[in-house]
Amino acid sequence: MKVLQVCAEIFPLLKTGGLADVCGALPGALVRRGCDVRVLVPAFPAILRGVPDAKPLATGGELPDGGRLLLGTLPGTGVPLYLIDAPALYAREGNPYADEAGQPYIDNHRRFALLGRVGALLADGFDPSWSAQVVHGHDWHAGLAPAYLRAAQLHSGRRQAGSVHTVHNLAFQGTFPLDVLGELGLPADFYQTHGLEFHGQVSFMKAGLHYADRITTVSPTYAREIQGEEQGCGLDGVLRARSGELSGILNAVDDAVWNPAIDELIPARYDGRRLAGKGRCRLALQSSFGLGPQTDRPLFGVVSRLTEQKGFNLILEGLPQLLERGGQLVVLGTGEPGLIAALVQAAKTHPGAIAVKVGYDEELAHRVVAGVDVMMVPSRFEPCGLTQLYGLKYGSLPLVRKVGGLADTVVDSSLENLDDGSATGFVFERFEVDDYVAALRRAFALFKRKGEWQEVQRRAMAQAFDWDAAAAQYIAQYEHIAA
Ligand code: ADP
Ligand code: GLC
Repeated sequence: MKVLQVCAEIFPLLKTGGLADVCGALPGALVRRGCDVRVLVPAFPAILRGVPDAKPLATGGELPDGGRLLLGTLPGTGVPLYLIDAPALYAREGNPYADEAGQPYIDNHRRFALLGRVGALLADGFDPSWSAQVVHGHDWHAGLAPAYLRAAQLHSGRRQAGSVHTVHNLAFQGTFPLDVLGELGLPADFYQTHGLEFHGQVSFMKAGLHYADRITTVSPTYAREIQGEEQGCGLDGVLRARSGELSGILNAVDDAVWNPAIDELIPARYDGRRLAGKGRCRLALQSSFGLGPQTDRPLFGVVSRLTEQKGFNLILEGLPQLLERGGQLVVLGTGEPGLIAALVQAAKTHPGAIAVKVGYDEELAHRVVAGVDVMMVPSRFEPCGLTQLYGLKYGSLPLVRKVGGLADTVVDSSLENLDDGSATGFVFERFEVDDYVAALRRAFALFKRKGEWQEVQRRAMAQAFDWDAAAAQYIAQYEHIAA
């Protein structure tokens, strides 16, 4: 089956978050299960530099409104990668969505409409040598692909491909003022409640949710949550109406990238049977951050976008309790200036106990995940979350809120869960500092019981979150809808 993945970021070429990890790992897993997969991305500078074999299609690949389509290979996978080379829209360094001041680019509607449009063209003979039977788009950036497919079907009377739209984060919807409509080249009557209209604006996410044959999101719990008002971000009605076509498929861990037994980015390698290397990773992390070399209290870590979503107000409010008990904290992240200021101030006030690195650093992310005892992800909402999965894999027990994918992947170290051998981390329910601190206290308590801690660590490391299982579920979706 010929499947086109459509996305805005992809590991290892360009990454702002978990979306890139997923889009980098899923294609290979689908190929291993026999799919004929290609990926379509905008040719942002980092992507173009990373695909040295990219060449225009044999036909020249000239696109209708300028620019051309290149074809190369996604490094490390052999998966064919289409690149939309339209410099006027994409030749901008850094973050693919926003300028240096963090302002979304004012032509984002044109930049990502083109992504969706070319996605649909690749199901309609634009590349004479390969045509998609399923177009699978990720997040709002690819949300118009199913709308263009529907428009082409109405125009030609022929269905070109089935479509899947995956929601990685419903909080980002790609909404634009109504006056962009004329630039999208879609039929005027697509602008309606049962279409891409959202409170008088144009919503790329809603287009994906409305026009795709199937909707998926990245965990079963989030699939339920977004059908309710609290987490539906205004689109819960649309999602409820399509609940029969909506499913949650849990993300996984790319074993070739996140695996302590072979990870060359960390100071020492280890696995569940030989944990000594983890101790060396911990010591190296403490030393590189100027933290005391203590071993008798837990070292907590966060690798994250610094946003409200990720629960930093709980971490900040709970700092006195963490410090009082002799814990240490390492934060690697970048994001909202207010959170950065608060974290940097905390590190200044408590040198030796709290360390903060502001920035985006892939190698350091591996060293933090390997070096800490506890990975913290106390999110307000979390579609899936990958850092808690990396924490499990590296024996760094996740401390998470029971929400979204976090609820689906971590089991609390309550007495009964320790007793029946299911505990893998620390889980709290309400988004309240008291609940968070109670989980923190469970982490301190378990850490004192070295034998039990290691038992939970080994169980965590043995959890299987592999892409093969996720790929099988995506393929089941594709089989229903392939053209
Ligand atoms: P989200 O996609 O919501 O940001 P995820 O947990 O799904 O959250 O994925 C985050 C990904 O981004 C992980 O691979 C994590 O290691 C990485 N990451 C986040 N912040 C940083 C950072 N400052 N430096 C390096 N990697 C980071
Ligand atoms: C989004 C979500 C995160 C998820 C990631 C990959 O960025 O915030 O929870 O893990 O996408 O699906």
